[in-house]
Amino acid sequence: MTATIIDGKMIADRMQAEIAAEVEQFKARFGYAPGLGAVLAGDDPASAQYVRMKRRACEKVGFTSVAHTMTAASTQEEVEAVVRALNDDASIHGILVQLPLPKHIHEERVLRLVSLDKDVDGFHPENIGLLGMKGREPTFTPATPTGCMVILKEVGAKIEGANAVVIGRSNIVGLPVALMLLKANATVTVCHSRTKDIPDIVRRADIVIAAIGQPEFVKGEWIKPGAVVIDVGTNKIDDPQAEKGYRWVGDVEFEAAKEVASAITQVPGGVGPMTITMLLHNTMKAARRIAERAAV
Ligand code: GUN
Repeated sequence: MTATIIDGKMIADRMQAEIAAEVEQFKARFGYAPGLGAVLAGDDPASAQYVRMKRRACEKVGFTSVAHTMTAASTQEEVEAVVRALNDDASIHGILVQLPLPKHIHEERVLRLVSLDKDVDGFHPENIGLLGMKGREPTFTPATPTGCMVILKEVGAKIEGANAVVIGRSNIVGLPVALMLLKANATVTVCHSRTKDIPDIVRRADIVIAAIGQPEFVKGEWIKPGAVVIDVGTNKIDDPQAEKGYRWVGDVEFEAAKEVASAITQVPGGVGPMTITMLLHNTMKAARRIAERAAV
């Protein structure tokens, strides 16, 4: 079997066009555009690049955006003051605190401060808690895990009753995607650095979500024939053959896995474009909720 290669960029472009159309309607009705406020603290070049990409996507769909860029020496109080100001700013409907924050900043205290109405990253402990509870629904769910779930629906993967294996347990991807799969009635196994015999666990998986941050960690021979494979990894590896001297690979051995899976995402062009799109989707939802409440 050769897998369907899931084109995340195509799904993202389609969804972004839908959001752009909704922004036009929103502006016509309320007289202003949805706004995203980003907080970037520290000098991590990858984080700065992500924030640039997110702001560019905002512009593309017609949102306004502001970025509060702070040095790595910023204090807890300074970061918290920026979040409070965004909470109070009526032109801002979604707040994005780019992670990781500098080590001396208490992440949980910052994320807890974000207004629940503007928590478009879904990282407020209340939203994560609701995500984990039966019969409860968070207002917002984190962008990358939501992107994974949209992709699974797009390819028609049967989630209910499926054996889903998540590799990685980060607060940003592994843990929330495991909770989302559980909510969708999958039987979920989460593998991490202390898990014994990961290959055998993956061999039983109908759905594999690889979010471990290690280049080509998941081998093609581990994949069960017909499984759906979602690769969240984006790892930069040296490649003297490549024009730039490096290339991006995922957490899955793509060439081998695509011969066994029924559907698989590629890197780049798989989950990445969906992450930004889900942030836009959440910001649109936040603006709609706030505006409609004010209009009553
Ligand atoms: N760092 C890595 N991924 C993300 C994300 O989805 N949101 C935020 N805020 N920070 C991140």
